[in-house]
Amino acid sequence: RIAGPCCMVIFGVTGDLSRKKLMPAIYDLANRGLLPPSFALVGFARRDWADEDFSQTVLDAVKEHARTPFRQEVWDQLAAGIRFVTGTFDDDASYTELANALTTLDAERGTGGNYAFYLAIPPNAFPVVLEQLSRTGLAQAADPGPGQRKPWRRVVIEKPFGHDLESAKELNALVNGVFPEESVFRIDHYLGKETVQNLLALRFANELFEPIWNANYVDHVQITMAEDIGLGGRAGYYDGIGAARDVIQNHLLQLLALTAMEDPVSFSPKQLQIEKIKVLSATKLVEPLDETTARGQYTEGWQGSEHVVGLQDEEGFDPNSRTETYAAITLNVDTRRWAGVPFYLRTGKRLGRRVTEIAVVFKRAPHLPFDATMTEELGQNALVVRVQPDEGITLRFGSKVPGSGMEVRDVNMDFSYGESFTESSPEAYERLIFDVLLGEPSLFPVNEEVELSWRILDPVLEHWAETGKPDTYESGTWGPVSADEMLARTGREWRRP
Ligand code: BG6
Repeated sequence: RIAGPCCMVIFGVTGDLSRKKLMPAIYDLANRGLLPPSFALVGFARRDWADEDFSQTVLDAVKEHARTPFRQEVWDQLAAGIRFVTGTFDDDASYTELANALTTLDAERGTGGNYAFYLAIPPNAFPVVLEQLSRTGLAQAADPGPGQRKPWRRVVIEKPFGHDLESAKELNALVNGVFPEESVFRIDHYLGKETVQNLLALRFANELFEPIWNANYVDHVQITMAEDIGLGGRAGYYDGIGAARDVIQNHLLQLLALTAMEDPVSFSPKQLQIEKIKVLSATKLVEPLDETTARGQYTEGWQGSEHVVGLQDEEGFDPNSRTETYAAITLNVDTRRWAGVPFYLRTGKRLGRRVTEIAVVFKRAPHLPFDATMTEELGQNALVVRVQPDEGITLRFGSKVPGSGMEVRDVNMDFSYGESFTESSPEAYERLIFDVLLGEPSLFPVNEEVELSWRILDPVLEHWAETGKPDTYESGTWGPVSADEMLARTGREWRRP
């Protein structure tokens, strides 16, 4: 399947996201033969650029970040459809120019009047751009008359989808006032990752796991997204947002939804959505929040052999800020399947290493017919979905240590993408942009999911806002002591991936 004729317009095209992710992804799609020859790309930004300047920027980005090899003929085909419109978000004349550029491209390349508007812009710019797209009629194609196909118009938005439930509702109302929900594509790039999509294959294409995927056998679930990087140049965006809003509200709650949801009636977008909404509706924080959550800010320390500064010394970060760079919460999913099983979610910057994983940890065997000294190194069985890096799945179980005794110790059985498949995984943005152009909505959270996620998170955000400064943790460690205490209270401990 390849995308049909269309044009993508990127607002905020001079930002990092465009350069590192969007432009390379578009080239990779073209290189894999998934874009039609008529595809066009329009950049919209303040900069006083000619088409050639923009084209050169795209080329540089492609050469630096694309996954697939550079091929001149692919680039030439793509470059012929690249245009740039200089404009500010609130200027009427700029949108007239944009509309003209799109009409000319339709005539020259045959884009069919199908447009995807990618808003890679700060959230405070959403209202004005949406208003302009509505005012100029770009958001809705005119009815072409009987027997003619109406061109499609879609909008792609990046998080943050609001700051809390109330602001998320306002944002959704604003977006849906201009684009109907089926034309809105909210990016959660975790859903574009192969390993995340594979969760559904693992659970629903096999007979092996699903029978024990419930409270009868599962002790708890740990979902971890650890990063070794600090804030770097992103302090301006991050200060006031923090780890819970940045990552838990979207990526980690989506991972929870895919891990905990019931099997969908079919794999249609609607049926998947129904199951995700159901499970998010049943998910809530465990009280008391003082004991079941933890947060922290990193201090200076060592990341491998590199000495790194603490948050207080990051450029652009307010030293008095209460913004957390580490967050851990405990959730319950109140359904028959999961009653009483805690889901622990944690994320942090400047942790021991970069790793994202979902660990389903099973109960201990009800009876061990071995001498207790023989099972000292036997832990709990676990199925670990390694989202990244080193993508794959690990099954941990006990095995007899070779020798004359009956000592039992944990061993791992591994599936690794690299060893099992020769096909390479597309980058998350490549997959998601392709789906936008196809109009395939399965991998994009809908308004209700976004609102449910804020409903889950809001109480802890309010709690933290009322309870002073976050704890601290040394860079290169696994988070604040309070996070370890949080699990220790229930007799459990965090995995050290
Ligand atoms: C983004 C967050 O959504 O995900 C960043 O805003 C984070 O803070 C990034 O660094 C991590 O993405 P990935 O794909 O590298 O795990």
